Amino acid sequence: MAESSSDLRPRRWWRSTTTRVLAGVATVAATATVLVAAPGADAAASTLGAAAAQSGRYFGTAIAAGRLGDSAYTTIAAREFNMVTPENEMKPDATEPNQNQFNFSSGDQVYNWAVSHGARVRGHTLAWHAQQPGWMQSMSGSNLRNAMINHIQKVMAHYQGKLAYWDVVNEAFNEDGSRRQSNLQSTGNDWIEVAFRTARAADPSVKLCYNDYNIDNWSYAKTQGVYRMVQDFKSRGVPIDCVGLQAHFTGGSSVPGNFQQTISSFAALGVDVALTEVDVTNANTSQYSALTQACMNVARCVGITVWGVRDSDSWRSSESPLLFDGGGNKKAAYNSVLNALNAGGTTATPTTTPTGPTTTTTTPTGPTTTTTTPGGGSCTATLSAGQSWGDRYNLNVSVSGSSSWTVTMNVPSPERISTTWNINATWPSSQVLVATPNGSGNNWGVTIMTNGNWTWPSVSCSAS
Ligand code: G3I
Repeated sequence: MAESSSDLRPRRWWRSTTTRVLAGVATVAATATVLVAAPGADAAASTLGAAAAQSGRYFGTAIAAGRLGDSAYTTIAAREFNMVTPENEMKPDATEPNQNQFNFSSGDQVYNWAVSHGARVRGHTLAWHAQQPGWMQSMSGSNLRNAMINHIQKVMAHYQGKLAYWDVVNEAFNEDGSRRQSNLQSTGNDWIEVAFRTARAADPSVKLCYNDYNIDNWSYAKTQGVYRMVQDFKSRGVPIDCVGLQAHFTGGSSVPGNFQQTISSFAALGVDVALTEVDVTNANTSQYSALTQACMNVARCVGITVWGVRDSDSWRSSESPLLFDGGGNKKAAYNSVLNALNAGGTTATPTTTPTGPTTTTTTPTGPTTTTTTPGGGSCTATLSAGQSWGDRYNLNVSVSGSSSWTVTMNVPSPERISTTWNINATWPSSQVLVATPNGSGNNWGVTIMTNGNWTWPSVSCSAS
């Protein structure tokens, strides 16, 4: 995995050097009639990671913490790959087995192994209908929404500044292009954008990705559904930096003829594209080279990750879908991928690294206090400005007069509340928040995405 600096030289370097060397050989041959085989005529990088690096891309693999004691596995992984995705170790069931009790031991194990072997890491994944811990599976509504936000904040805080990409949301669409029904979806259609906004605030240094399978065929309804979401996010300033096409060409699917069109169409929205979980039934060589070529032909296709090292490590091992056989030998597909990487293509031009929130002096305006006195009781909710950034601001809310209160907050469109703290929250609609005490006291707050409108929300307080 560690690359020498020559591994990183662009393909053009090899070509011009070869030309100079050959010219020298011709001179020698003319004067001394020495026959010399052309050296370096097919000079090329000899590992997947180094070959990909020639065009500014990475070549990665999924790594399982449980296999790090297998030296045959780690020898191949360390030699060939310069990006690592923890196969299961950063998923919600692994990182938050009990609510608000986090466990990063296996995630850290994979992370530490990767960086100590010169690889970067793709975080996978923060919000997903599957591999939720038991406590989360049985949750719904605002409790689940807040638990998701808390999960994203805490996990991203642990890995803050360390990862190259995070799969913020995974597999949220149906095959027909509609949203997948799940407990997360039931918290409101805006759950995905809330996840991305929460993620950007939690770690502004990492690229934020949406990741899914069966979005490889441009004319497929699911591909179009995801495309429309990304298009919508980009048009409204929801922070998204990349789309991951899992590219599982197993279980009956194969590389579609329009695969490159899919990659370039997503890229044209202004996001990086990556092939994130590649495997191909029986490691068909022409499919492996076609998918590699498709990525190489699109400047914003930044890298390829295969979903495991050897066939025996695959989640679909019966289909022998990877680049190394169970004995660790390179398969024909390995050579077809390596050759496609070495043949060159467009130089990768990833989107710029996201920058952190910048503090602005914009002062939100609006009412500060609203009091209502239903049923004889009374309470007052007082708003005060918290920190603000270029696209959002925090509001602090202080409730007085009663410890048993309900505050209703109406947010003017197109503003949206992205985060709350110290309350139980319910959402009659995306513009209305109903807050009640959660035992944290009477001081709480919200983060509001302005979407261009800085007017404060109105609030009313009702005591019971
Ligand atoms: O570790 C336990 C072991 O202790 C237990 O004895 C055994 C019994 O079933 O299960 C083991 O856990 C398994 C885990 O993989 C580790 O091997 C889980 O049952 C199994 O469900 C889990 O499967 C993972 C799957 O995601 C779960 O959804 C696969 O390894 C992993 O490759 C796969 O990866 C997903 C991506 O995250 C998202 N895209 C699809 C891809 C393939 O399904």
